[in-house]
Amino acid sequence: MKGERKITIAIDGFSSTGKSTMAKVLASRIGYAYVDTGAMYRAVTLYCLEHNLINAEGNVDHERLIASLDDIHIGFAPVDGANHTLLDGRDVESEIRGMEVSERVSTIATIGEVRRHLVSQQQAMGRDGGVVMDGRDIGTVVFPHAQLKVFVTASAEVRAQRRYDELCSKGDTTTSYEEVLHNVNERDRLDTTREESPLRRADDAIELDNSNLTREEQNEWLYQQFEQALKRAKTRKKKTN
Ligand code: DC
Repeated sequence: MKGERKITIAIDGFSSTGKSTMAKVLASRIGYAYVDTGAMYRAVTLYCLEHNLINAEGNVDHERLIASLDDIHIGFAPVDGANHTLLDGRDVESEIRGMEVSERVSTIATIGEVRRHLVSQQQAMGRDGGVVMDGRDIGTVVFPHAQLKVFVTASAEVRAQRRYDELCSKGDTTTSYEEVLHNVNERDRLDTTREESPLRRADDAIELDNSNLTREEQNEWLYQQFEQALKRAKTRKKKTN
């Protein structure tokens, strides 16, 4: 794919739809960079928990958080073939996936200043194209002109079961399926009803309900969408030349 024009790919959708996995697989297959924007909101949430910017009731000290934003350094690094999230240089990949962060992250993601801060970092990461970015507002806010936009959905029960299986496989024996389902429903509610960039499908996004698809099927589907989007982008370029 060397020397070829690279496009921007936005993958949005509900939590635990497996969109990160499919985005990662596509990025590695086509040699694009992969950016997990949910991990960035999670890293900010972890920072808040560690610096007592959020209390046990979930109330956030907005003033101190906003004043701290420039001091929160989020990065990514490859570890054993996976992309790990760094907070101030520390590998926090496993901490940001735990229930404590999962329960608080939607609240942090409602804060306009946090969103604007992270969105500008995300736009800088994808400035030159060649990126697969997954999140909630990539096709609507971060890259409204992305050449390929996908919106992924699946039923809440299917998504809760997937996240529950993932937690079990990581050795978490304290969280029940019911708790995970509650968390999925609560996050859907917060993500879709918040004032700042609520989760919604961009008008030009292709919707994929993967409730009944295998991983291989959805990976193949996404790759076909990529090929078509690349063809469209090339045709458009020829017409404008
Ligand atoms: O994709 P995830 O479950 O790791 O995302 C964690 C939270 O961050 C989720 O509640 C929605 C929020 N988020 C967001 O508001 N905007 C994004 N671009 C990515 C995630």
